[in-house]
Amino acid sequence: MDDVLSRLRVVEAEALARLQEAVSAAHIDALEREVLGNASEIAAARRGLKDLPDEKRREVGRGINEIVGRLGGRFAERRTQVAAAEEAERLRRERLDITLPGRGALPGAAHLVMQVLEEVTDIFVALGYTVADGPEVETAFYNFDALNTPPTHPARLESDTLYVEHGPDPEGVLLRTQTSPVQARYMEQHPPPVYIVSPGRVFRRDTMDATHTPVFHQIEGLAVDANVTFADLKGTLAHFAREFFGPEQQVRFLPHFFPFTEPSAEMHTTCFACGGSGCRVCGGGGWIELLGCGMVDPNVFEAVGYDPTAVSGFAFGVGLDRLAMIRYGVPELRYFFDPDLRVLEQFR
Ligand code: DAH
Repeated sequence: MDDVLSRLRVVEAEALARLQEAVSAAHIDALEREVLGNASEIAAARRGLKDLPDEKRREVGRGINEIVGRLGGRFAERRTQVAAAEEAERLRRERLDITLPGRGALPGAAHLVMQVLEEVTDIFVALGYTVADGPEVETAFYNFDALNTPPTHPARLESDTLYVEHGPDPEGVLLRTQTSPVQARYMEQHPPPVYIVSPGRVFRRDTMDATHTPVFHQIEGLAVDANVTFADLKGTLAHFAREFFGPEQQVRFLPHFFPFTEPSAEMHTTCFACGGSGCRVCGGGGWIELLGCGMVDPNVFEAVGYDPTAVSGFAFGVGLDRLAMIRYGVPELRYFFDPDLRVLEQFR
């Protein structure tokens, strides 16, 4: 009957070898059932003990107990090892490396034209002007009539103005062609004195070329008070030119015509690139046209309910895209509207 024990030692050795390969708790449980469970050779040997003679039964019984005791110890040991390995693997898998740099949003930047819009607005805010706003879809009344622009004025032709189908009058509603209607809207709502600027988008029926796009940007200015003179206009706008282009700027005013101002002028400034001697930026003349301006026409005051004998004022309108082109040497207006980041990224 020694062969029972020697057979069980082989079973033990095989079980230990397989236990070494087991890599999960489930694996170990299954192996334990196979080696020590009711259907195992060890269980069968135990059941056979009762048929052995006394002495042999004791010897084989002790041998079985030793084997079962050793196996139990090794199973427990292996369980601990596998649990530790599983825990280590889980920690490795779930590791959160908080030392990695985060994936932040790509930093954007204001478009160059918006940067210029804000800069020019700030120059006037620093002088005490406030910012006024108006709609981009405008009535012909505010865009033209209230601004002393008669029904026959060529700017009102459909070849220049984009009309919007709305209401009975085919030319009653339009995309504003200038920021000037904000002047009339504001004065209607506020008594004098008025010191406002109003930046925004304007629209014209222009075909795209180097200096024209159907959408562009202007900033409007309006100052109305008891004794505003052309000298105030000149001082204010010269200050603006020097703040924007540099302290050495000279300015000059040339007679011009706008329906809503009388007298009207164009303001030119010495070319900031050559200082006035003539270069490519200014086309050789040494001067750059910057804006339109003038003293508010009495007819405009009447249209908004102001008394033209009690107040006077000046107004101006500046093309912001043009300012940006001039100062940064951008040769084509359409670069501002092309989604080409190589152009825009230079101005972040
Ligand atoms: N609205 C004019 C334009 O779009 C610019 C302008 C000229 C505005 C004279 C004014 C002004 O307020 O006084 O060409």
